[in-house]
Amino acid sequence: MAADRVARIRRPRAPLIGTVAPKGDKSVSIRRALFSIFTKEQVALDNYGSGEDCLTALLCLRALGKRVEIQDSRIEIEGSADQSCELDCRNSGTTARLLMGLLAGRVGEWTLIGDESLSRRPMQRVAEPLRRMGAKIELTHGKLPAKITGARLHGATHDLEISSAQLKSALLLAGLFAEGETRVREPLSSRDHTERLLGLTQDAQGFWRVNPDCAKSLSASSLSGEIPCDISSAAFWAGAAMLVPGSVITIRNLLLNPLRAGWITVLKRAGADISYRVEHVVGGEPVGTVIIRHSQLSSLKITADEVPGVIDEIPVLSVIASVAGGTSRFENLAELRVKESDRLAAIADCLSLMNVRTMISGDNLSVEGNSVLQAATIDPRGDHRIALAFACAGLAAEDETTILDPDCASVSYPEFWSELSSLSHQQVL
Ligand code: S3P
Repeated sequence: MAADRVARIRRPRAPLIGTVAPKGDKSVSIRRALFSIFTKEQVALDNYGSGEDCLTALLCLRALGKRVEIQDSRIEIEGSADQSCELDCRNSGTTARLLMGLLAGRVGEWTLIGDESLSRRPMQRVAEPLRRMGAKIELTHGKLPAKITGARLHGATHDLEISSAQLKSALLLAGLFAEGETRVREPLSSRDHTERLLGLTQDAQGFWRVNPDCAKSLSASSLSGEIPCDISSAAFWAGAAMLVPGSVITIRNLLLNPLRAGWITVLKRAGADISYRVEHVVGGEPVGTVIIRHSQLSSLKITADEVPGVIDEIPVLSVIASVAGGTSRFENLAELRVKESDRLAAIADCLSLMNVRTMISGDNLSVEGNSVLQAATIDPRGDHRIALAFACAGLAAEDETTILDPDCASVSYPEFWSELSSLSHQQVL
């Protein structure tokens, strides 16, 4: 990977018209792969996510003792996962946090490490409630490296203060190894892929409940199959379409889980012409086609209760807000500060480099619309979603925008640059 490689983006001469096909959804790919530890039989996954994070989950399974065959986007996972080892979670928070829950109640000893970004992210939020179930987890100043020593777990009730699918999933997964019942409730609903794979339902008080019997639903046949395309990657095409007049972009076989489709709701409310249709259910998830048409938007509003449903899409929604009419307001973005970078600061800095006025007050962000975007050199801080969002911004600037370290986008969407090159008829890399 050349450190001095850059992506150069110009305003396209013609609308972006065509079909794109992001690979398998990252959250679903990682879960279906990691949950293979519940079976020795072969789990075969098609259209597995192509991003580095999805590969990270597979490398961890290999380190645990699984045989993992990778043939393009078809993955076959087989055998047992009973080795004690070091697990390098690289940039993947989902892999690290889900593994904490998956390993805490098993026999063995593991050390979880990560790259510089992951090593800065909070892990106490997962370790502390797991310890209340009997887990033995030692963190390093609240972060990775984490040493996990398998222990006998007992069920517990967790009434969480933050809405995090990674945290919720870790606790539910630990509950599959714990004596008795584990109950987990979060203030606002975050993505529910773990619950869908486990076939769970919420009780009248809003708690998800698990016990070791629930692990029976994680069989080779229930985990195997096709993974729908990544809805968070798709959001960047909404960004591209909203910034380039006349664009019409179609995405088929797309994950349409309502807890992930918040960006569609937010944009449609602002006047976006986005049509979508659920066509079938795959692995418990709704899947269908989305057609995104360039539209004149009014300002975007995201209230605090909507944030978990758009948590990964705030960077691209902020970019779209810069060309919408009026001032957009996004509330309570505190969680953005502890993502792959401090995304709140990154969004404000990069937008201001491109001549867009923003204001951060507390954890709220305002973005002034009707902006005339100016080309800039963007340092994405190693954060894939910042690189991808500002590549979209570059499509509306008059001169050439440079994205430094474009390879960081490979964490979730390695094909983005070539898809953008062909849709916009320019060589961006
Ligand atoms: C994810 C959950 C979200 C999201 C991340 C993937 C998951 O994080 O930001 O990209 O797959 O569970 P939090 O659960 O910490 O909000």
